[in-house]
Formats: sequence, C-alpha cells, structure tokens
Amino acid sequence: MERRSVWLATAEMPRSAALDTELEVDVAVVGGGIVGLTTALLAQRRGLRVAVLEAATVGAGTTGYTTGKVTAQHGLIYADLVDRHGDDGARRYADAQRAGVEQVADLAAELRIECDLTRAPALTYTRLPEQRSQIEDEVKAAARLGLPARVADRTDLPFDVEAGVVFDDQIHFHPGRYLAGLAAAFTAAGGPIFEGTRVTSIDEQRDRTVELTTPTGKVVAHQVVVATLLPPGLLGGYFARTRPSRSYGLAVRLHGAAPTSMAISIDTPSRSTRPWLDPGPNGLIVVGNGHETGAESDTEAMYADLEAWTRATFDVEAVDYRWSSQDYLTPDRVPYVGHSPTSEQVLVATGFQKWGLSSGTAAAMMLADLLAGNDNPWLPTFDAGRIGGVRTVGRLIKDNLKVGQELVAGRRHDPDARPAAELRPGEGGLVDIGGHTVGGYRDSAGALHTVSPRCSHLGCPLHWNPAETSWDCTCHGSRFSPDGSVLDGPAVRPLGRPTTDTRG
Ligand SMILES: Cc1cc2nc3c(=O)[nH]c(=O)nc-3n(C[C@H](O)[C@H](O)[C@H](O)COP(=O)(O)OP(=O)(O)OC[C@H]3O[C@@H](n4cnc5c(N)ncnc54)[C@H](O)[C@@H]3O)c2cc1C
Ligand code: FES
Repeated sequence: MERRSVWLATAEMPRSAALDTELEVDVAVVGGGIVGLTTALLAQRRGLRVAVLEAATVGAGTTGYTTGKVTAQHGLIYADLVDRHGDDGARRYADAQRAGVEQVADLAAELRIECDLTRAPALTYTRLPEQRSQIEDEVKAAARLGLPARVADRTDLPFDVEAGVVFDDQIHFHPGRYLAGLAAAFTAAGGPIFEGTRVTSIDEQRDRTVELTTPTGKVVAHQVVVATLLPPGLLGGYFARTRPSRSYGLAVRLHGAAPTSMAISIDTPSRSTRPWLDPGPNGLIVVGNGHETGAESDTEAMYADLEAWTRATFDVEAVDYRWSSQDYLTPDRVPYVGHSPTSEQVLVATGFQKWGLSSGTAAAMMLADLLAGNDNPWLPTFDAGRIGGVRTVGRLIKDNLKVGQELVAGRRHDPDARPAAELRPGEGGLVDIGGHTVGGYRDSAGALHTVSPRCSHLGCPLHWNPAETSWDCTCHGSRFSPDGSVLDGPAVRPLGRPTTDTRG
C-alpha cells in the first residue's frame, strides 16, 4: 500500500520554478488548488494579468487529497440553511453550487481535460430509522430550492439503508488530472505559476497596491486573491472563526464491481464512497473518520478503523493507497468569499466544509466577478466581510494570541515527555532533554530531529501525528514536518529550534 494520495500518485502534475525576481501584475493569486487555479484562469479570461504563487506544488493542498465528488449535495444542508439563512440565502447557496458543478463540467469539456469526469447520482443516507425525518426534510427543502432531489429507499450499496436523498446528474472526477488541466490552460495563455514560493506577508501599500513577500522574490499586485485553504498569518481573523477538520481516505480494489453511485452517510462515524475508475469497475474510494486536527493522538487507529469497515462491508482484494487531509468548517456552514474585512484589494475564499470542489469553483466565479469590477448575485450570502469589521477582527486576533500564550505557559515542562533515547526509528513525540520539553523525531537512519513544540502561528502546543509523521496544531490547524517546515497554514514560518543542546 502506498502512503500518498491516489490522485497525486496517478496524475502528471505540471512543475514550475520558484519566483526569483520582482514582478508586477494586476492580480496575484496565492495558492495552486482548485480555488486559486480556477480564479486565475477566469480572471485571465477577463483580460487581467495574473500570476499564481504556490508554496509547494500545484495540487499539494487539500484539492490533491479529496474524495473528488463535485456535487451540489453536501450531506444534509439545505433544510438547515433555510433555518439559518432564510429562503433567499439557501437559494443563493444552492444556485452557486449548481453553477460550480456545471462550471467544472464546462471547463473540463472546453479544455479537453481527461479527468475521468463522470455523471452519477449523489446519495446521502442513514441506516437509522430515527433519522428518516431528517432525510425527508432535506428532500423537501432541496427540491423547493430547485435542486434535483428525491427520496430513495434502495441504493446500490451492499447493505440496507433506512432512507436517502438522491441528487441525480452530479459529477465525480480525478482532481489531480483536472487541476493539471487548469494549470496547463493558464500557463498556455501566458500566465506564470511559481511553485515552491510561500507568501510570508501580504502588505497593502500607500498607493493601494499590495506587496507580497516570498523568500525568493516579491510581487506587487493591484489585487490579491488569497486561496490558501485558510488565509495565512492573521489575515482577516478567519483562523479564529473556522475549525480545522481532518479525514482519512483509501483507494481500494474489490473482487467484484463497486457501487456506481457516490454515497455519504449521516450516521457516525461518517463514511463516504465513490467509484475509482483507474483500475476498472472494481475500484472504490472510501473516506471518513473526520476529527479536529491535532485532537486524535492515535491517527494510525483512524486508518485501521476505516480499513476494517471497508473490509467488513465490501469484498476487498487490495488497499492500494491511503492518505489524509483537512479542510475548515465555518460556524454557519457557508464559506467566506469576497473582500477581506481589512483590505479592499485583498480577496479571500475559505471555510469550504469539505465541499470545496463545487463551493470552491463557485467561489472562483464570484472572485473573478469582483476582480473585474462586477457584482455577483451569490455574494451577499458568502460575504467574507460577515466575520465582522476591522475592530472585531482585531479583537479576535488579540483573544487568540492570549489563548496561545496561556497554553504555552502551561506546557514548558511536559510531564509526559519521554527521554529522547526511548524514541525508536520512525517514532516522534515530546521528549525531555536536560529538563526541557522539545519535539523529537528519530528518522530511519537513527538521527534525532528536534523542534520547539510551539506553533509558529500563535504559539499553541503541537501534537505528534504518528500516521502522517507531522506536528499538528489543534488551535487553527497548522501542521509541520519533523524538521519544522510548514505543511499546512495558517502558519507561514517554520518551527523554532530548541535553545537547549538536543544532540542524542
Ligand atoms: C478528506 C477530504 C475529502 C474531501 N472531499 C471532497 C469532495 O468529495 N467534494 C468536495 O467538493 N470537496 C471535498 N473536500 C473539500 C475540498 O477538497 C476543499 O475544500 C478544496 O480542495 C479546497 O481548495 P482550495 O483551493 O481552497 O485549497 P487547497 O487545495 O488546499 O489549495 C491551497 C494551496 O495554497 C497553498 N498555500 C498555502 N499557504 C500558502 C502560502 N502562504 N503561500 C503560497 N501558497 C500557499 C497550498 O500549498 C495549497 O496548494 C474534501 C476535503 C477533505 C479534507
Ligand atoms: S495554527 Fe494557530 S496557533 Fe497553531
């Protein structure tokens, strides 16, 4: 079994050099996931000079690690959205999702992207009789909003369900190949993508341009789109109004044919499945076991549990790939899209609730409208400014800084820290060196790597993630490799080095 995303392992991703100069553009897009690349392409088509800055490689973020369903069906959401946002708000959300799905289909067709795009029904189901009414409420709400919703009592899953909501004519695809196609179209039209280029600060200048700093060069832009899953650093205070949630995925081959529908359960723990077309009709993707980033100490058990369920439910021949990834949840279940509260020139899109393939594409459509100076009918519901004005954002940041400092103060000498000599090759965790608690990882050659176990974002304590060999932060979801480099934001700086002598 390969421990990497099936989508990145089976796509030819484009490669570009890092920024090594100073550049001036109309629009700088930060982030090479589905939001960044779709926005870049749509803005370029409106005559704007656009550059994409990507910290790692195209697709290295959550888009390269999804389940790959492009659907307006987001579990059970529409009845709840009507309650929270009224009919108009829920309708805007539904319209945006439908348009996002069709935008993906249109771009794939027009650009001839071979990404296995397949129309299929999307199913959200329960196996519990007491949840049946929720399914029926959802069908009523979704149908009223113009979505293709119907109740299903039977499915192509190998077990009985109590009831399900079906949306016909949705999409599943290969997200790696789709992203590679978007990137190729953007660069073929003259748009530069700079990989290995992490933006470490975004500063508005007196002349209302925005300067983006990276370790190897600078960009001056008239407008900036921050499409980094969660905005970096303190930008907009979004880290304080979202929660990071990770999930686990498997790509498996079955002895017989896999279900052709895309399905997700509302029962706990959640299980999401869809066909995996590469091996043929017997391929299946299974995703589940979501939890807050950094909250589970035994992440290996998450994979083991998902695999056990898959083997108990389907006739599994082999598990070929496994991976995990994260996304951010918002308090009112709608992503934040549009102008950041702190700058007219800086646009953001975040909080996709693990449904950012349709939502993120819809976000790109909204952002492209804003960049071109046009209005967009969905923006009042997604408005990134609803987080609050500049003063609210300032208070959010201050409160979070305080939480980080308090947590750190309480953890200088962790009683659970082990002697460093106890770490075996491949193991990591808090270790005690000379009375100081540091983060340690022993590599396969036996060398000990140490880092300060405080997050470089706002100082919260880090937790060792054994399955991904990373340091994860529960506060806002930053993640770091054993050598301290940033894997996931909002942190932009690597972890500090322990001040004590850590040879061992
Ligand atoms: C397990 C899982 C399954 C999912 N399945 C589905 C699904 O089936 N359907 C669906 O609709 N959604 C799904 N989602 C959600 C969806 O994948 C995401 O919402 C979407 O991919 C987010 O896209 P993005 O472009 O905003 O972020 P990303 O794809 O994360 O892209 C952000 C990019 O920004 C880069 N970056 C970060 N910081 C910086 C910086 N400072 N400077 C420069 N670059 C930076 C990163 O390297 C990354 O490449 C799933 C999510 C998870 C976790
Ligand atoms: S991600 Fe904010 S303190 Fe770690």
